[in-house]
Amino acid sequence: MLTFLQTAQEASRIGGRVLQQWQSKFTAREKSPANLVTEADLASQDAIHNFIVTRFPDHKFLGEEGLDQQSGNSEYRWVIDPLDGTGNYVHRFPYYCVSIGLEYRGQLVVGVIYDPTRDELFSAMKGSGAFLNGQRIRCSEVDKITEAMCMASLPVKTTAESAAVGRFLKVISEAQSVQRSGSAALNLCYVASGRVDAFWSTNLKPWDMAGGVLIVEEAGGRVTQTGGGAFELEVPDLLASNGTALHQSLSQLLVE
Ligand code: IPD
Ligand code: CA
Ligand code: CA
Repeated sequence: MLTFLQTAQEASRIGGRVLQQWQSKFTAREKSPANLVTEADLASQDAIHNFIVTRFPDHKFLGEEGLDQQSGNSEYRWVIDPLDGTGNYVHRFPYYCVSIGLEYRGQLVVGVIYDPTRDELFSAMKGSGAFLNGQRIRCSEVDKITEAMCMASLPVKTTAESAAVGRFLKVISEAQSVQRSGSAALNLCYVASGRVDAFWSTNLKPWDMAGGVLIVEEAGGRVTQTGGGAFELEVPDLLASNGTALHQSLSQLLVE
């Protein structure tokens, strides 16, 4: 399993380097970077995929940018978001990352997320704890919603009347604060490292979650659906917390 972890770590740094190189290209061309982002996304995904597939040619792959390699008998599947936090990246708001998760027989066994701006590498291997740049990380102990800093993701083009906005407002009036920072994968790492106490979203894709869920769990946190049901990678509904009574309080508020 260590080989898989090391592979994911190296691959995430490779992807991060590609993203940073593309950012300087945007600057050099002095035009709106929006149309170049897809190229950066793809270049990062290609670099990550090439690196991993060379080592494990029979493994399966799912990546946001049209990568869907499902053939073969392997019970391993890599789930990749080559750039999570695209909106931030476009605006040069330094909160985006590369996210890589590895499943074995449908269970997450390795998670790696790399923030190239801060050179922060978050990682976890099933049963072995969670780490940030090699140092053990743990979730916070805040258990009261009134003392909690939470994070949420909302759909990109949401409306004032949407259920997601309704839930966001409900928690705002109870929690100490609610942030919306634009990278679900990094938000999970921030829960794992105790920088925030909880994160939820009901509009996520497998590649947004695959890297970070195991990192939260291995840091002592808890991940379920917002209503408390078991987390499933294919279901776009996630509540990740430090695992204290805060989880239940938030879950109740979110489904009320
Ligand atoms: C998005 C981010 C965002 C979340 C969106 C995702 P992308 O991923 O994780 O936080 O709210 O649902 O699509 O598009 O930047 O890879
Ligand atoms: Ca994403
Ligand atoms: Ca993405």
